[in-house]
Amino acid sequence: MDNRAIGVFDSGLGGLTTVKELRRLLPYENIVYLGDTGRVPYGTRGRETIQKYAMQDMAFLQSHNVKMIIAACGTASSAITSEMTSHLGVPFSGVVLPAAQAACASSISGRIGVIGTTATVRSGAYGRAVRGINPDARVFGSACPLFVPLVENGFIQPDNEITIKVARIYLEPIIKFETDTLILGCTHYPIIYDILNQLLDYKVTLIDPGKEVARWAHSYLISEDMLSSSQQKGGCEFFVTDAPDSFSSTADIFLGEHVDSQVTQIDLE
Ligand code: SIN
Repeated sequence: MDNRAIGVFDSGLGGLTTVKELRRLLPYENIVYLGDTGRVPYGTRGRETIQKYAMQDMAFLQSHNVKMIIAACGTASSAITSEMTSHLGVPFSGVVLPAAQAACASSISGRIGVIGTTATVRSGAYGRAVRGINPDARVFGSACPLFVPLVENGFIQPDNEITIKVARIYLEPIIKFETDTLILGCTHYPIIYDILNQLLDYKVTLIDPGKEVARWAHSYLISEDMLSSSQQKGGCEFFVTDAPDSFSSTADIFLGEHVDSQVTQIDLE
């Protein structure tokens, strides 16, 4: 048993899709969440900058004595190397491997699409992870840089005409590639799941990386006997690097419930 909290970080709000699933699967666990809202998006930045930000995010969570660290950010996950996590002293996972495993398990044709930020698609991390599991798989990546600002600014309603227009353009090459499975390679994208699903005529299995990493955490804590011994619903502590008020007002939408926690602004530099 281990009563320390689970640490989760993202560049902004997208990682709350992981928190939502963690709270469903592991209701007695406490969670410390860091959203680097002062520096979102990560996906337009260079690899070294993303790595530097990720190191600072992980150090912050370590300073809160968490028992596990989850990079609930596709962009950070695709830039983090094993050297960067070997010193953490707690188990770590990003979203890339759990999502690749789910995609390989779901795909029949082996034609797997990946949408993500520019940095994520450029890194090729999902493709490498998929081919490491199924060397015969064909992976097609498409960058969707406008999705994160649209989501962060609340353009998320299933009938939002602007987001639908943008998504139609971004999904065109994915449709042409005839994928049967599409990895939503950024944790912001499941927020517009309904729009994407509809534009793909409900014919493509969509893989939600935030959910998949939450499932990984669930099995890991059980197998390593690291669950909390508490019998009471766990709480969440939220930290952001900018605009705590706007984070508070949007977080409930992402979490699908009102979590009565204070949002604290911190400085990572
Ligand atoms: C971003 O910060 O650009 C998006 C985060 C992600 O890739 O999940």
